[in-house]
Order: sequence, then C-alpha cells, then structure tokens
Amino acid sequence: MSSTVISNIATLVTNDPSPDGSGSPLGTVRDAAVVIEGDRVVWTGESRKAPATDNRVDAAGRAVLPGFVDSHSHLVFAGDRTEEFNARMSGRPYGAGGIRTTVAATRAASDAELEANLTRFVTEALRQGTTTLETKSGYGLSTGEEARALRLAARHTDEVTFLGAHIVAPEYADDPAAYVELVTGEMLDACAPHARWIDVFCEQGAFDGDQARAILTAGRAKGLRPRVHANQLSYGPGVRLAVELDAASADHCTHLTDADVDALAGGNTVATLLPGAEFSTRAEWPDARRLLDAGVTVALSTDCNPGSSFTSSVPFCIALAVRDMGMTPDEAVWSATAGGAAALRRDDVGRLTPGAYADLVLLDAPSHVHLAYRPGVPLVAGVWRRGVRVV
Ligand code: NIG
Ligand code: FE
Repeated sequence: MSSTVISNIATLVTNDPSPDGSGSPLGTVRDAAVVIEGDRVVWTGESRKAPATDNRVDAAGRAVLPGFVDSHSHLVFAGDRTEEFNARMSGRPYGAGGIRTTVAATRAASDAELEANLTRFVTEALRQGTTTLETKSGYGLSTGEEARALRLAARHTDEVTFLGAHIVAPEYADDPAAYVELVTGEMLDACAPHARWIDVFCEQGAFDGDQARAILTAGRAKGLRPRVHANQLSYGPGVRLAVELDAASADHCTHLTDADVDALAGGNTVATLLPGAEFSTRAEWPDARRLLDAGVTVALSTDCNPGSSFTSSVPFCIALAVRDMGMTPDEAVWSATAGGAAALRRDDVGRLTPGAYADLVLLDAPSHVHLAYRPGVPLVAGVWRRGVRVV
C-alpha cells in the first residue's frame, strides 16, 4: 500500500483534543504533517518527526483540516425556486407550502435529470471541501417516487435519509391521517432497504408531534435510525421528541424553549444548525452560544435545497455561524467536521487521527480561522477523499 506525507502544514486541525493541551477541541498542531496510507490516516504530528513515505506533498505553510461533514442536505430534486426567493426578498414570508412546487418538478423529471442534478451538487460540495454528505428524499411523496429518490441518492452517498414525511402529499391534502398510514406502511417498506435514516418535518403545516412519533417509531422498527427537522419555523415538540427517541440529530433548532435546551443537554441528540436557511429566509438566527454554553453538541450543515437554503457551501455556513450565531471560529470548524460526524453517529470521519478516513481539506490560508475571517473567498486549494486527491 503506498504512503504519502503532506508536510509543511502551518496549522493542522486534527479534532483530537489531546495534542496541544490548550483545551481547544480542535487538537491543533503547528508545523505539522499528516501521513496517509491507502484510504486512512496513519500518523499526525510535527513535520520534523514524520516517518519516511513513498510520496510527499508540500503544503507550503498552509492549513489542513478534516473534510467537512455536511449531515443535512436535500439534493434529489428538479427545477428551482428563484421566483419564490425573489418574492421573499421583497417581503413575502417563507412557509412549508413552497415544497409542493419542487415536488411537482421532481415528479416530472427523468432519472437522468435527477442524476445530473445530484452529480452537479455533490461535485459542487466536494470542491468546497465536503467529503461526507448526507442527503434526503422528500420531493417525491409517493411510494415509487420516494424509492426512486433514495435509489439515486445511494449512488452518491451511504448517508441516505428517507423523508417521505416532508409534507403531506398533495393527493392526501384532505386526509393527512391516510398519508401518515402510507408513509408508515407501503412507502416505508419500499424505502427502508435504500436508506440508513428516517426523518420527519415536525412543524405547523407539516407533521405534528403525534404524527412524527408514529413515523419515526415505524421507521425504527424497520431498521432506520431517526433524525428530525425540529423547531425551525416555530416552537414545538420536535426537539423533545428527537431526544426522547434518541435521534442522532435535531435539525434547525431555531425556536427553542429552556426545556428544549435542557432536553438536548441531557440526551445524546446533536443540535444541527443550518444557518443557510435563516440567511435565505431572512429568519432569526439559531442561538448556537446558548446551546454550547448548556453543553449541547452542535453540528453545522448546509441544508442545501432549492427552497430555504440553496447553498452547498460549508465555509459559507461557518462564516455565518461565527458572525451571527455567537460561535468562535474554532467552535464553528469543529461543528462542521467532528460535529457533523457526531450527527451521523460516525467516528471514522470528521477527524484526522490514526485510523480515520483520509478525508482532508488543504486551505489557501495559514489557518482554519480564515474560513470565517475571509468570507466568500474560495479558500479550498485541495481535497483528499479516502486518501485520493480529488480537487
Ligand atoms: O430543511 N424544513 C423543511 N425542509 C427544508 C425546506 C425544503 C423546501 O423549502 O423545499 C428545510 O429547510
Ligand atoms: Fe432540511
């Protein structure tokens, strides 16, 4: 197996809390090197102590960090919602109803069109440093369409989520209970083999707490693990339900009571914050500081979708989180790497320590802080995925 050292790294983020003794969770090493063998990291440390290898890459005094783990996106769709965005920026509020526009466009699209879109967005994300990407169904809302979306998604990632419960399908508008029966019955049977996770949009205008509980419990009985779109547009039961069901993540967490924060702090559910959605809907920011101060594990992801957050850029989300959500640059970088991994219950990504996948980002900057310090600048100069340089 061939080995490669990336050396002359000014700042290496490992996410191993032990190396620098500073208490920062980033485990930063200065004048560092990483050694890759096959698809794994086998060594990290000071450059001068690096073992001999077959190949050598000179980082030339730049920063290296773990590839971003984007644990929340909706990439199986067709069409876009430019008009809706335009109207919103002229004052119209965002609501769950816009999802129907994308459902109609997605149902009308061929497999080839959906596949081309997926490839475009996965590639776009990779160029910006995302090496692990979760993505969801949720714009099909019939048994055949949801299963198709998951099959297509599974060609691009192992982190596939069944979101048949995104909204009530238009055909069932007058009988939501029948739609919940479909989602927990025939649709779940057809979709479970293609997914790892089950998600539900627990929100006014989508699914209430009882419906969400029924859907997640049914999914769990079929081997899917729960995650929840919770407390995005209003206060509600989503976050507490996520913790109660030991969901890997409660996503959005924009409207939280003290009881919601306490529940997150006392459980194993990660709070995944999606600032692209608040940016694109001109909504109030989630309060990352409040969650971190309460001891909650926070992840940062894009929520890339055509309605509420049409960005695939984790660096953009890091910059927003630092500027507007009370996170330090170190916290935001941790949340976009190790935090995302925690939200997917993974420990083989989101860190650069021996045994982890060699998924790395080389920045055209001396440290990770520049991700927030230089917003909007394309700083990603190189990406390795599974030990192979892909950018
Ligand atoms: O995460 N909240 C629900 N789903 C998406 C929005 C989907 C859409 O508007 O198309 C979200 O923001
Ligand atoms: Fe979402």
